[in-house]
Amino acid sequence: MRFACGFDHGGYPLRETVLEALRSDGHDPVDLGASELDPGDDYPDFALAVVRAIRGGDAERGILVCGSGAGVAVAATKVGGIRAAMAHDTYTAAQCVEHDDCNVLALGARVIGPEIAAELVAAFANAVFSGEERHVRRLAKVDAIERDGLDARL
Ligand code: RB5
Repeated sequence: MRFACGFDHGGYPLRETVLEALRSDGHDPVDLGASELDPGDDYPDFALAVVRAIRGGDAERGILVCGSGAGVAVAATKVGGIRAAMAHDTYTAAQCVEHDDCNVLALGARVIGPEIAAELVAAFANAVFSGEERHVRRLAKVDAIERDGLDARL
């Protein structure tokens, strides 16, 4: 599977770990930067690059890394059709795909080290949406909120 990947300066220390974890599992990472450590860069720039790749069909899923994982998750979920989850445990990294059909994993390089990060990437990358009725039903409600905001009728 093709994964768009983005890292701000806070996430940069996990860049090689994330890319290599995907490659070693047979996936195809697309590295959207940063290509070098720049303490002045801004996490929304990388979030936008990754979600553009997903929405444009250049990648099926994405992985975004900042310092905490929070900033990139918030920025990514501002775009319709993007379901981003910050996960620092393998249960959430897999379940966010299996139940919630998440297409972006957000990680914090100031929270976890490379060994855990590689396990999280593998859990997310190899998970498959269940397709079960209750999960599809809940996702339709999420879509309604995305479409209609506070006027959504669930
Ligand atoms: C950068 O200092 C930091 O704020 C950013 O990487 C991220 O953690 C934001 O959520």
